[in-house]
Amino acid sequence: MISKKMEEALNEQVNAELFSAYFYLSMESWFKSKNLNGFANWMRVQTQEEMTHAMKIYDFIDERGGRITLKAIEGPQTEWDSPLAVFEAVYEHEQKVTGLINDLVDLSIKEKDHATNSFLQWFVSEQVEEEASADAAVQQLKMVESAPGGMFMLDRELGQRVFTPPAAEGE
Ligand code: FEO
Repeated sequence: MISKKMEEALNEQVNAELFSAYFYLSMESWFKSKNLNGFANWMRVQTQEEMTHAMKIYDFIDERGGRITLKAIEGPQTEWDSPLAVFEAVYEHEQKVTGLINDLVDLSIKEKDHATNSFLQWFVSEQVEEEASADAAVQQLKMVESAPGGMFMLDRELGQRVFTPPAAEGE
């Protein structure tokens, strides 16, 4: 059985992951409006990943005999100045999420909740990847800023990203 404190904190994280999905879906629609469909695809895959993060925590709360309580999801930003500004926002957001995951790990230690601690380790590793892929896109965008045709190439490259459900990753 999960403690009330841990249950509440995990419920907050479900909301944060759903907000992340909403945030990236908003970015997808921005890229679509600019006819950058490869970037839009990257954001769609990112949205799907965030949905799986939310559902993973949702299922875990339930499995531990907790109560899932859904809260309102904040409206995301809808406009950005450039593709680089979008990915800088992704990177910043993922760093924030890493902080939230770290806080959850700290709480699980405080609560002596080893099961939740073990569960959260997947998210600790996932955040390393999340930050790295956002940062890689920021660096690529900085490189192509002054190269004609570079944006087109990058759009094509990001259009290759496909969603892989966590179960298929052998976790
Ligand atoms: Fe679910 Fe991108 O962190």
